[in-house]
Amino acid sequence: MTAKIIDGKKIAAEIRAEAKLEADELISQNIQPCLVVVLVGEDPASKAYVGSKVKACEETGIKSIKVTHPAGISEAELMSEIDRLNADNSVHGILVQLPLPKHMDEDAVTERIDPSKDVDGFHPVNVGKLSIGLDCLTPCTPTGIPEMIVRSGIEMSGKHAVVIGRSNIVGKPMMSLLVQKGEKANCTVTCCHSGTKDLAYFTRQADILIAAIGVPEFVKADMVKEGATVIDVGINRVDDATKPRGYKLVGDVDYASVEPIAGAITPVPGGVGPMTVAMLMKNTIKAARMRG
Ligand code: GUN
Repeated sequence: MTAKIIDGKKIAAEIRAEAKLEADELISQNIQPCLVVVLVGEDPASKAYVGSKVKACEETGIKSIKVTHPAGISEAELMSEIDRLNADNSVHGILVQLPLPKHMDEDAVTERIDPSKDVDGFHPVNVGKLSIGLDCLTPCTPTGIPEMIVRSGIEMSGKHAVVIGRSNIVGKPMMSLLVQKGEKANCTVTCCHSGTKDLAYFTRQADILIAAIGVPEFVKADMVKEGATVIDVGINRVDDATKPRGYKLVGDVDYASVEPIAGAITPVPGGVGPMTVAMLMKNTIKAARMRG
């Protein structure tokens, strides 16, 4: 059996095109959707992510403002900046790229953002609303995953979804989303993590297996049930002297061995990654709609 390759790039382009139509409609009502992306420090991966977010805004008709600060900025200064953005009615979304430098309290910074502008869905108000099934802004990466699955013609309702990883950015919100009622959810949900004993026992029962561990090629063929839908959230840099940059990107799934067993699988790159940015566009439009 050969797996269906879930083309995240193509599905993300569809979603961005939908977001553009929605942005055009808001603009026709004199509402210019606007996202502010705050980057602190010089982390190369963060710079690249912020660059792709700003570019996607340009293509979608969303105004983007990139605010950069040196790594040495104080937490108090960053907090004042967030206060100013919270009070600015022309700003609909605020995203502070993580990780922040070590001297800053990421939780405190996240909590400073007005929940109605929290396009990352990381604020405890949004986390709480998601967990009890209220409409809210939800984290971009996990929100994109059911979109990819359903738009690939795969049913989710009643399936056993196993999530590997319990991060606040992916694993935990993924579980909250999957367990809700609805066409893009309604799963039986299991979460595995570093404390799980006999992890493969659980992963082999997954109809939908979502890997968000941060360990290169962690999921091997013997951990996957035949025909399962395998979603790889990992983006890991692995040394590769044959590449011009000296590294290659691999996921958390050992693609070469798992692909022949899976029913459907996301590649890395070109799978979950582009979806995150597309969902950020959707969240920014949603935030703009909510505030007007
Ligand atoms: N760092 C890694 N992923 C994310 C994300 O989704 N949002 C923000 N703000 N920072 C991140």
